[in-house]
Amino acid sequence: MTAHLVTGIGELVTHDPRFGGPLRDAALVAQDGVVVWVGPSGEEPAADARTDLGGAAVVPGFVDSHTHLVFAGDRAAEFEARMSGLPYTGGGIATTVAATRAASDDDLRRRLAALVAEARALGTTTVEVKSGYGLDVDTEQRLLRLAREVTTETTFLGAHVVPPGTDRAEYLALVTGPMLAACAPLARWADVFCEPASPIAFDGDEAREVLEAAARAGLGLRVHGNQLGHGPGAQLAVELGAASVDHCTYLTDDDVSALAGSGTVATLLPGVEFSTRSPYPDARRLLDAGVEVALASDCNPGTCFSTSMPLMIALAVREMRMTVTEALRAATLGGARALRRDDVGHLRLGARADLAVLDAPTHRHLAYRPGVPIARGLRL
Ligand code: NIG
Ligand code: FE
Repeated sequence: MTAHLVTGIGELVTHDPRFGGPLRDAALVAQDGVVVWVGPSGEEPAADARTDLGGAAVVPGFVDSHTHLVFAGDRAAEFEARMSGLPYTGGGIATTVAATRAASDDDLRRRLAALVAEARALGTTTVEVKSGYGLDVDTEQRLLRLAREVTTETTFLGAHVVPPGTDRAEYLALVTGPMLAACAPLARWADVFCEPASPIAFDGDEAREVLEAAARAGLGLRVHGNQLGHGPGAQLAVELGAASVDHCTYLTDDDVSALAGSGTVATLLPGVEFSTRSPYPDARRLLDAGVEVALASDCNPGTCFSTSMPLMIALAVREMRMTVTEALRAATLGGARALRRDDVGHLRLGARADLAVLDAPTHRHLAYRPGVPIARGLRL
């Protein structure tokens, strides 16, 4: 039993309603990785170990609830072509699938570890990782096994796209049958790319089939929806009790009302709009309707190759008119809700002592200092 005291916290954001906002000049004690005391500097109890942060701001470690971090290959040329005017269609996913299938476990593990370390260095302390670049039983299973080595938040995304040259109905039967059976023991969640506008993604009926099969296999549900155009993703997610619908770029009033008051979080991924030069989701409309909003990176080789949650916060504030407080909440507590976790995303008593330590006097600098690596993750 080791008690670790952290002092010299210039500003501490806990999301604890008891405090009614950030604390100034605070200290925190963690016992075996769990927050057991938070309060003003000078009133802290004795501890075995002590770290002084010299006035840094501390916020809950970021919860990145949506990533595709296990893959091989590179799509910088696709990005460059897009910046010269080509639209994003999802067609490049096949390039990553080919490279991923050909990669060894060691190569994939090395790449994954490097990306997780990069995210941690930028303040992320909880990360969800999806499969979806295997699209055959063996590779999907391999990707989830590797993902499980770095996180408990693993997501089976066999229904990412229909692989080129494969019959849709046959692929759907594979995903909901043998692939799901092989992958379910390695995953906490299942996800589907529900996008009727895309010929390679799944329409509402197909997505429902995937999600219902996954629920029967005991998995929690998540949906990629409403990214490229209007569609049934958001309402399907609500109807089936999914934890989150992610992207939410194109929503109708009915979608927003369905999300409001539901248990489904709207996860916004502004790095995708940034990197595909697309219109940003209307975050204000969701927040003003009372929808629980999360921010995540969607880090993947196609639509957003960034693990930086501070960048997502800066984009949310600059491009989606979220306040800094809303954006920080969405990147921490919102992400935790999107993963149905109550032990992360905040620093109330009993939470995991997962911190993002900022080389800055206040959390506002997360948006005010875009592109500057001021945050680092610290798990006590
Ligand atoms: O979340 N939209 C579908 N899947 C990913 C992109 C995958 C890729 O292009 O490699 C996304 O944006
Ligand atoms: Fe994604």
